[in-house]
Amino acid sequence: MRSPARNAVPAAAPAAAVEPLFDNQAVSSARALPLYMQLAQHLRQLIIGGAINDRDALPAERDLAERFRVSRVTVRKALQSLTDEGLLQQRQGAGTFVSAPPRVEQPLSVLTSFTEDMQSRGLTAGSVWLDRATGTASSDEALILGLSLGERVSRLRRIRLANGVPMAIEHCVVPSRFLPDPGAVSGSLYDVLRARGHIPHRALQRLSATSLTDDQARLLDTQPGSPALHIERRTFLPTGGMVELVRSSYRGDAYDFVVELQLSAPSIPSRHDSEAGS
Ligand code: GLP
Repeated sequence: MRSPARNAVPAAAPAAAVEPLFDNQAVSSARALPLYMQLAQHLRQLIIGGAINDRDALPAERDLAERFRVSRVTVRKALQSLTDEGLLQQRQGAGTFVSAPPRVEQPLSVLTSFTEDMQSRGLTAGSVWLDRATGTASSDEALILGLSLGERVSRLRRIRLANGVPMAIEHCVVPSRFLPDPGAVSGSLYDVLRARGHIPHRALQRLSATSLTDDQARLLDTQPGSPALHIERRTFLPTGGMVELVRSSYRGDAYDFVVELQLSAPSIPSRHDSEAGS
């Protein structure tokens, strides 16, 4: 998530001012990740972490290539992928600039983490860990996450708490290439993913009614058979890859999912329509 502090910086810095922020070691052919992805990841972290500000100019392709000791094709691919993510703007003849934050808001659906959901309600998020392990993706997980058979995943199973009260049981599967060590997550998974440059960007969420099994009811400190919501979330990175598959059971008596509905634009009567009808 972009730091609010970024909006407070009024003047855009010239390309030379951002150069000292670059880490010469950030891109290396010794690593498995393609060079352009490594470069994109480094620049993304600087932008999202607020080190490079909105509207700042990036050095020319040639200078970036020299600085990171990669080809101009590699630089071009990295800049293009950040442009596709909306983090950069390439202006013909003028160069590459960090985009200003989008002005469009999404009141209908906002992708937030459990921790953020709780914080916005003035509650403290907590977790009771049931399991944190790595393993081989099952065929179901591999199919959904788009992994090859045998690929490794990190699995996080926990009870999510709000002010100490159990709200949900969550079982989350993340490909190991995004989260090699599930032990790195002690609080917010999304914070850990973001810090690693993997930004949860979009999600598909399916909700269905269910009732709690004996085991689930025990973990959630409620009665067996109580109503619950089964939620499956598939979360995607800006590049389109799926970063997590989460299946959770939320206590029906403790959680309301609220969706804002708006009249679709074409249905709003125009001035002309209302005048004609009067
Ligand atoms: C919600 C979502 C999960 C997601 C989690 C991350 O609970 N349903 O899909 O993994 O938020 O929350 P946090 O960053 O607090 O771990």
